[in-house]
Amino acid sequence: MQTYIETPRLILRDWKEEDIPAFARMNADPHVMEFFLNPLTAEESFAFYQRIQKEFQTCGFGLYAVERKEDHAFMGYTGLHQITFDVDFAPGVEIGWRLGHEYWGHGYAPEAANACLEYARRHLDIKELYSFTSLPNLRSERVMQKIGMERVKEFNHPLVPNEHMLCRHVLYRIILYSTCPR
Ligand SMILES: CC(C)(COP(=O)(O)OP(=O)(O)OC[C@H]1O[C@@H](n2cnc3c(N)ncnc32)[C@H](O)[C@@H]1OP(=O)(O)O)[C@@H](O)C(=O)NCCC(=O)NCCS
Repeated sequence: MQTYIETPRLILRDWKEEDIPAFARMNADPHVMEFFLNPLTAEESFAFYQRIQKEFQTCGFGLYAVERKEDHAFMGYTGLHQITFDVDFAPGVEIGWRLGHEYWGHGYAPEAANACLEYARRHLDIKELYSFTSLPNLRSERVMQKIGMERVKEFNHPLVPNEHMLCRHVLYRIILYSTCPR
């Protein structure tokens, strides 16, 4: 099992089969999934787990499993994911996060996300990262701001019905390196 990133309080690592029950509990929790169309069933969580593994194999990066050093608790994920749906900032890479609600409010997501930015700068050939969330998800937007991302615009998420309250999204971006000669 590979550890990709270490921060003062966290380990961002490969996933293990033992993570699956806590991952499924998190994805089934209506509080965690408040700003998604639906909480996930156990089967949907397992399919998501498999897609995450596949992205690591094909891209060399993905959504890292986040473990708390103090007690080795699996807390959720933070990491990178290819944007494949039909928007004008695709193809591109997003940075995203989801933690079990018992871990919220301690700055864990920004700590993990900042470390991902640094990792991407040092090890990955990615020029810029995006992040987006539905307008009411202020907690997630706050993480974007706390890690230094800049607000780009609002857009309608093409996979959410237009009339749905979660359709309107906010897009943030951070440049990791410039292609301009120094
Ligand atoms: C988004 C999430 C990862 C944040 O993780 P976290 O480790 O709790 O992040 P933080 O501890 O930095 O707290 C979030 C920030 O939002 C703020 N916040 C919390 N509730 C808020 C609200 N209702 N309105 C505005 N800001 C709020 C907090 O005050 C904090 O900012 P501060 O440090 O400036 O005070 C976590 O809430 C989560 O997993 N949510 C469910 C999944 C999700 O929505 N993922 C993002 C999908 S795009």
